[in-house]
Amino acid sequence: STGPLVLGIESSCDETGVGVVRGREVLANVIASSVDEQARYGGVVPEIAARAHLEAMRPTLERALEVAGVGITDLDAVAVTAGPGLAGALMVGVGAAKALAVTARKPLYGVNHLVGHVTADQLHGAGEEARPVELPTVALLVSGGHTSLLLVRGLVDDVELLGETLDDAAGEAFDKTARLLGLAYPGGPSIDRAAVDGDPAAIRFPRGLTAAKDRERHRFDFSFSGLKTAVARHVERAEGDLAIGDVAASFREAVVDVLVTKALDACRETGVPRLLLGGGVVANRRLRDVAAERAAAAGVQLRIPPFDLCTDNGAMIAGLGARLVDAGVAPSGAGFGVDSTLP
Ligand code: KG4
Ligand code: ZN
Repeated sequence: STGPLVLGIESSCDETGVGVVRGREVLANVIASSVDEQARYGGVVPEIAARAHLEAMRPTLERALEVAGVGITDLDAVAVTAGPGLAGALMVGVGAAKALAVTARKPLYGVNHLVGHVTADQLHGAGEEARPVELPTVALLVSGGHTSLLLVRGLVDDVELLGETLDDAAGEAFDKTARLLGLAYPGGPSIDRAAVDGDPAAIRFPRGLTAAKDRERHRFDFSFSGLKTAVARHVERAEGDLAIGDVAASFREAVVDVLVTKALDACRETGVPRLLLGGGVVANRRLRDVAAERAAAAGVQLRIPPFDLCTDNGAMIAGLGARLVDAGVAPSGAGFGVDSTLP
């Protein structure tokens, strides 16, 4: 295949990811996670995440180059997540990327993690068909740190924010609710497992910002704190007699219902019949199924990345780097830093 050969480094949260792409083709996507260590604390501890990145960075880098079958001198560019994320964690990736770029004399791109999530779906494996995304498209970005509805006209530089969460991110809601139910971190997969034999209609949990009075100002915004409180009250009332499967399934249904409803409303109102999903929460089975069902009914073309490209990974960062090279964008200046609150 053709296109620039780019290595991408991701270290914004608790996954150390290094990916190598040629154009849109993924040659390697290696991930080391400190999630087991974080699970003992019920969430991500920034200091532990940063130390874990430092330990995992070199082996992950070496493994990615080995899997891709390339050396650093072969690369056309290096890309790294510059933000948003945990500052200490980001610094490990940016430090490694700068050292690599200096040593191998390669252009370096500091990129936005969130744009990486949105562009992940265009990547494809060896021998697979290219999957170009048709623009404009509505994009729903749902991760541990973000819940945003976007209108994407140009993947690199023309993204309009339609709405976002006013409090917790969707992934955060999964993580906090899991903790309430005594389930392990990260909450998304735990709740998915617990919900398997639960009844999604057992409890009618609130759908944040969907009331008529929110139609005007918060049409495309999200709120999950009321849902979290409702689950907490339910758990208190149930005392020892808690049907965890039903609570997990009903909670998940409430989150998925709001996400899909608002995303499809955005497609209708913008007149853009395309929807792209990105971010860790898109690994959720129920979200994938409900989105597929309702998008088909609404005549909306739906794009969902494969599982391993949904959660944090280096290939999406490499892929975004390759797009920047292709677009002729100048590399980042030598002194660029991390920005934990990059929009
Ligand atoms: O994109 P990501 O890997 O990291 C961030 O950029 O935040 O997303 C992590 C989030 C966590 O909150 C995790 O609970 C959630 O994605 N997640 C899921 C699932 N797998 C991961 N949420 C719901 N269902 C899942 N199966
Ligand atoms: Zn992410």
